Amino acid sequence: MENFYRLVDHDQDFHNRRCIWVNGPVIVGAGPSGLATAACLREQGVPYVVLEKADCIASLWQKRTYDRLKLHLPKQFCQLPNLPFPKDFPEYPSKKQFIEYLESYARRFEISPKFNECVQTARYDETSGLWRVKTVSTIGSSRTEIEYICRWLVVATGENAECVTPDIEGLAEFGGEVIHACDYKSGEKYKGKKVLVVGCGNSGMELSLDLCNYNADPSIVVRSSVHVLPREILGKSTFELAVLMMAWLPIWLVDKLLLFLAWLALGNIEKFGLKRPSMGPMQLKSTHGKTPVLDVGALAKIRSGDIKVVPGIKRFAKGQVELENGEKLDIDSVVLATGYRSNVPYWLQETDFFSKNGFPKATFPNGWKGNTGLFAVGFTRRGLSGASSDAMRIAQDIGNVWKDETKQKKQRTTACHRRCISQF
Ligand SMILES: Cc1cc2nc3c(=O)[nH]c(=O)nc-3n(C[C@H](O)[C@H](O)[C@H](O)COP(=O)(O)OP(=O)(O)OC[C@H]3O[C@@H](n4cnc5c(N)ncnc54)[C@H](O)[C@@H]3O)c2cc1C
Ligand SMILES: NC(=O)c1ccc[n+]([C@@H]2O[C@H](COP(=O)([O-])OP(=O)(O)OC[C@H]3O[C@@H](n4cnc5c(N)ncnc54)[C@H](OP(=O)(O)O)[C@@H]3O)[C@@H](O)[C@H]2O)c1
Repeated sequence: MENFYRLVDHDQDFHNRRCIWVNGPVIVGAGPSGLATAACLREQGVPYVVLEKADCIASLWQKRTYDRLKLHLPKQFCQLPNLPFPKDFPEYPSKKQFIEYLESYARRFEISPKFNECVQTARYDETSGLWRVKTVSTIGSSRTEIEYICRWLVVATGENAECVTPDIEGLAEFGGEVIHACDYKSGEKYKGKKVLVVGCGNSGMELSLDLCNYNADPSIVVRSSVHVLPREILGKSTFELAVLMMAWLPIWLVDKLLLFLAWLALGNIEKFGLKRPSMGPMQLKSTHGKTPVLDVGALAKIRSGDIKVVPGIKRFAKGQVELENGEKLDIDSVVLATGYRSNVPYWLQETDFFSKNGFPKATFPNGWKGNTGLFAVGFTRRGLSGASSDAMRIAQDIGNVWKDETKQKKQRTTACHRRCISQF
């Protein structure tokens, strides 16, 4: 698969680190997006290298998600190209099943990422027309610096690469346990404890439900507004219904219908402190990337009072939180379900294609290809289905160039061979 040559260059930096020429693209990240791209490139006969900072594939799923997590969307919207989920998987596979699927995907397409290699910088060298990707590889206590040189760079580091941890007044003085949702596994150790869950996205809602199920006493902070939709309406996935309607109707009408159906299924949620945004759920997703909450049981616990909804936070004090309405709550622990961000601006030295927030400037379906051999997969704000569609486009695009050049090279070699023979 890989074809490495040592490069010789007069640049001083080249002499300080191992330098590897990659015949084909370098893919940064071995999550679902990186794996899908690698598999599609393989189908095109294009060699590649996948660099992954963790020691396993799909590190978000394996290391930074809670135990009770299931896919929120039906399985047909979450499978990667060229390998459907096993038939016996349920409609909404569990995290364990999804990881099993990804591992079988990597095996099936013979994807062997270079683990423990964190990309520190990547920049395009105008003079050579090549990408220079610098990594630090750590295995145990040994640390190696490597530079990969390649023609194509595929960014697959994900929309959720870094945790967002807000700086809230007094949090340092709180004294109890404070964790981000990415470190939460289950509510088992919180039994009988008062837990403040900050944030009401899908993570905050589901962690609050999990805490309830383990007999903890959660309060959820809803500082602004949120769209809560049932995961299913009349036995049909709400997401699937929305996709179907979007094919025929304008987005504003889809939103109106979704909100009407949600009202029929869930009633008026505003009376529980869950104010709806003024913009509809699909419009909000497509313009601001804010995902609606697909309810899997938290709302019933809010209705019953087992999960308390509280307004924004003013400040923390020792063992206590003061809310914007002046109310003070005694709490034992805090879980920050305050979201994630892209890490692209920290390592990619490029500003034409990617914007400051680490997402491509062009939105779906145009955000997969930049100039100078740069590609992005999995930044569509459309979850796994968006990643699959990017991966197929990227592989097709690189595959076309690859095949053309391979054909030309073959023709040149054959012509040269003929000339040599005719000279004898
Ligand atoms: C709790 C949770 C639940 C979710 N559930 C769903 C769902 O049900 N359905 C859905 O469609 N989406 C869901 N998502 C969205 C999720 O982002 C996608 O499912 C999917 O993981 C995206 O794949 P990815 O490969 O783009 O990113 P990731 O899975 O984040 O993979 C990126 C990889 O890049 C690696 N990496 C990052 N930086 C570097 C670097 N500098 N050098 C080398 N490697 C690097 C990371 O270690 C990681 O392995 C969920 C997200 C979260 C947080
Ligand atoms: N089963 C699943 O499929 C599943 C489960 C979990 C997550 N996910 C996905 O994972 C991604 C991330 O979801 P997420 O829920 O972790 O993050 P998110 O959707 O970005 O939600 C973050 C929440 O934190 C709030 N927040 C941020 N800073 C705050 C502060 N200082 N004080 C109070 N509230 C604050 C935000 O409020 P504002 O809105 O006011 O900013 C928002 O409610 C999404 O795409 C989601 O769909 C999927």
